Amino acid sequence: HESELSADAVERGEYRHYMQKEIFEQPRAVADTLESRIGPHGVLPNIFGVGGDELLAKVRGVHIIACGTSYHAGLVAKYWIEEYARLPVAVEVASEYRYREAVVPADTLFVAISQSGETADTLAAMRESRRRGYLGTLAICNVPESSVVREADLKLMTRAGPEIGVASTKAFTTQLAALALLTLRLAHERGLDETRYLALCEQLQSLPRMIEQALQLEPEIQALAEHFIPRHHALFLGRGVQFPVALEGSLKLKEISYIHAEAYPAGELKHGPLALVDEDMPVVAVAPNGPLLDKLKSNLQEVRARGGELIVFADKAAPMDGNPSRGSVLRVDAGGEFIAPAVFTVPLQLLSYHVAVLRGTDVDQPRNLAKSVTVE
Ligand code: G6P
Repeated sequence: HESELSADAVERGEYRHYMQKEIFEQPRAVADTLESRIGPHGVLPNIFGVGGDELLAKVRGVHIIACGTSYHAGLVAKYWIEEYARLPVAVEVASEYRYREAVVPADTLFVAISQSGETADTLAAMRESRRRGYLGTLAICNVPESSVVREADLKLMTRAGPEIGVASTKAFTTQLAALALLTLRLAHERGLDETRYLALCEQLQSLPRMIEQALQLEPEIQALAEHFIPRHHALFLGRGVQFPVALEGSLKLKEISYIHAEAYPAGELKHGPLALVDEDMPVVAVAPNGPLLDKLKSNLQEVRARGGELIVFADKAAPMDGNPSRGSVLRVDAGGEFIAPAVFTVPLQLLSYHVAVLRGTDVDQPRNLAKSVTVE
């Protein structure tokens, strides 16, 4: 047993937990996922497997199915594919999809996202999809020999390496990298302007570097985490493509710190959650620079007016007033609108991690949860 423990300590190296190690492995993992798949002239041919490019050229719609964190990656992809490839996308959790009569328009691509490739509901949904008349199936997965990969027509492996922490971190950002490649391939096929296409490709290639920079916020985030120790609830807000990032941030906090957290698209605040906001309810907001910034700021004003503590992760380029009377503004260099959701994910991971450490929970193996849910 003792030798097992020391082997474990060797694995973790300088890090206290696997989760922290895996958060810091993200620049490498994302770079590996992009390696030999994208270059100065765009996405390379045949990265989805034999016949992949021919099949993707025919796609007229996309259905994405997944569970947990992988589902959140799918939600980000919906915003991306609809914006850049102008194809309709539906995203659904696998346990719902498999038991309802989803309508499948002609030439729809089925995409399963799974870290393990063994999640029972995702696998069952993919099997069910065979009967529903899709153009083809694509697996985005981290385990090459897994069931989901074996049964899919096309595959794009994330190259995150083994993920030990139950709360998914590097699996998520590598899924985003893989989905960004899919977005770019579909967008190019659908006639996205070449200059814009190449600019997006360049942005994606800068992602490992931007994540590296975001990781440097750790000391500031660790200090912020203190505020959450006595809390029972927290609210996460985002708008547009940052809404799924807020969902993922709230899931991380729930999973490992056991603080009840919910995420809302900020525009929904006044339709319910505002009733919960008081001085005991911290509100975490993701504020990228962009056309929705002013709207988000007025949402945040509503929180401030009710005495809520605001923790804002704001793009370096986003004009924001100084620190709110209660709470703080942390500056993140998002590196561009396309990759911003992947970059903003990192400080939220660090926040949950440090809150959990301070609360003394079992960070790598939270109660009641499993790394891979292989039964229904
Ligand atoms: C479990 C894990 C999550 C994961 C989900 C889906 O709930 O704890 O971290 O996101 O399963 O797993 P998959 O392997 O299909 O991505």
